[in-house]
Amino acid sequence: MGRTVYINGAFKAEEDAFISIFDRGFLFADGIYEVTAVIDGRLVDNDLHLARLERSLHEIAIPMPMAIEQILEIQVDLIRRNQLREGVVYLQVTRGSADRDFGYAEGMRPNFIAFTQAKSLVDAPSVRNGVAVDVTDDPRWSRRDIKTIMLLGQVLAKKKANAGGFHEVWFVEDGYITEGASSTAFILTKDNVVLTRPNSQAVLPGCTRRALQKLAKEGGVIIEERRFTLQEAYEAKEAFLTSASSLVTPIIRVAQRVIGDGTPGPVTRRLQAAYLDLARTRSEPVL
Ligand code: PDD
Repeated sequence: MGRTVYINGAFKAEEDAFISIFDRGFLFADGIYEVTAVIDGRLVDNDLHLARLERSLHEIAIPMPMAIEQILEIQVDLIRRNQLREGVVYLQVTRGSADRDFGYAEGMRPNFIAFTQAKSLVDAPSVRNGVAVDVTDDPRWSRRDIKTIMLLGQVLAKKKANAGGFHEVWFVEDGYITEGASSTAFILTKDNVVLTRPNSQAVLPGCTRRALQKLAKEGGVIIEERRFTLQEAYEAKEAFLTSASSLVTPIIRVAQRVIGDGTPGPVTRRLQAAYLDLARTRSEPVL
């Protein structure tokens, strides 16, 4: 059974939803996307994702296709139509369609699509057992704070990492970890401080990261915003990553170095449980 998806004002069967070959997302990667988790039929941290969508669009001068409240209505509608209990809702806004030209006209009408993807998030083996992450030089442009659909660096780095048996890859710049190809990076130091890189143009400001910072404070875990080196990552007591689709995922190996005793650590487990509780009880119920 096919999904119902949203495309430019209409809900359609996925096999009937088409976008122009002149879409600037297709031709230039000229667009923005967002991914929100759905757990137990609830949208997780969705306010943060919609706020970041608005910010990203503003940064590349694409108008919002509609008000935030209307986008939320579409997300809710898609979850209901597809009876999505667990998975993600994907949103994408591109500058619109026009004959190919680097320069674009003012006042273009954005193309807006949205769809659901059913997948197991909470019970994924990666979330339960932890994962290995590879490391590589950061291949991306200088405005990584904008969530653009220009993801070839990430696609190629992830493909290589996956082929080497890694679940994710951490990017390194000037000796410091920036972030994962599609996730935020954290380590726990020997002094029991969780480190994550401060937000800047070098990284995407993670919504899961932000929610977790608040939870950690409530639970008495210290998360310090400071850049950390690859060497510090190798020597970490624990490590984990966060994203909408991977929640809090333990890391048990960075490149060839085993982290801690090679199993998910207690601080990671505590934060993971706290985040799941938030997702299941404090987020917006739809179904
Ligand atoms: N990726 N950093 C990068 C480069 C990302 O692509 C993502 C998310 C994150 C985590 O952000 P958040 O916690 O807001 O999901 C950090 C999504 C899930 C994706 O591309 O599918």
